[in-house]
Amino acid sequence: MKIVIIGGTGLIGSKTVERLRRQGHEVIAASPNTGVNTMTGEGLAAALVGCDVVIDLANSPSFEDKAVMDFFETSGHNLLQAEREAGVKHHIALSVVGTERLQESGYFRGKLAQERLIKASGIPYTIVHSTQFMEFLGGIAQSGTVGETVRLSPANVQPIASDDVADAMAKVALAPPSNGTIEIAGPERFRLNELVSRYLKVSGDARKVEADPEARYFGARLDDRSLVSDDEPSLGHITFEKWFETAARK
Ligand SMILES: NC(=O)c1ccc[n+]([C@@H]2O[C@H](COP(=O)([O-])OP(=O)(O)OC[C@H]3O[C@@H](n4cnc5c(N)ncnc54)[C@H](OP(=O)(O)O)[C@@H]3O)[C@@H](O)[C@H]2O)c1
Repeated sequence: MKIVIIGGTGLIGSKTVERLRRQGHEVIAASPNTGVNTMTGEGLAAALVGCDVVIDLANSPSFEDKAVMDFFETSGHNLLQAEREAGVKHHIALSVVGTERLQESGYFRGKLAQERLIKASGIPYTIVHSTQFMEFLGGIAQSGTVGETVRLSPANVQPIASDDVADAMAKVALAPPSNGTIEIAGPERFRLNELVSRYLKVSGDARKVEADPEARYFGARLDDRSLVSDDEPSLGHITFEKWFETAARK
């Protein structure tokens, strides 16, 4: 099977490319670094010739509200149009658990726009909603940092390691389209402020975390349901401790 992975050089993309190649599939890692740009359309048509499945694992280079919306709308439009022309049979995209509940945030408004384009595209699809990647804990800490203090909501989180996410994406690529959304999450639930505090401590980072229910998460106020699944997500198996011992030290 020929599979094109948009954002195939990124965190989840590169791990998904590796897994599907190991299983003998023809996999193209498509990104600006390999000559494929979904914002400009460069290299898209050539990459999609004879392609069965597209997995979109790209992310906006900027998290500024307008830049994110432009990225997901323009990229989504160009990519889905090129897929229709190439006769792609399954479009898969990675989005975030709670996207529809986080609409105070410009980033999540961009992700919802991406999801709406997919649903309206006429191409059979599967949207995968993931919880926060464990690899993103440092970015979350950074987003709440002022001076030496990190202010974060005590809302529930259930983070997942990127290796578990890539396993799930590779599995979805080989399954029929669900024409719906499936959810994945890590095996353990934490309070966001407590987990980031633990992460900083084991990383030897002196910053202190303060719980603040009003602290915004990329612009959105959180409650205990915002970032965790309502249903029964498929669970990864890598715990925070195991992840930190291995992946975080690579
Ligand atoms: N972070 C989280 O906790 C989380 C949770 C759930 C879902 N997600 C979603 O997961 C997805 C993947 O995230 P990630 O952290 O793996 O991303 P990442 O490591 O930041 O990689 C982003 C990828 O997008 C590519 N890209 C950027 N601009 C592009 C363009 N114009 N055309 C084609 N490709 C382009 C980059 O290519 P170059 O290397 O060539 O620049 C890179 O391969 C995102 O859509 C994100 O919303 C994230």
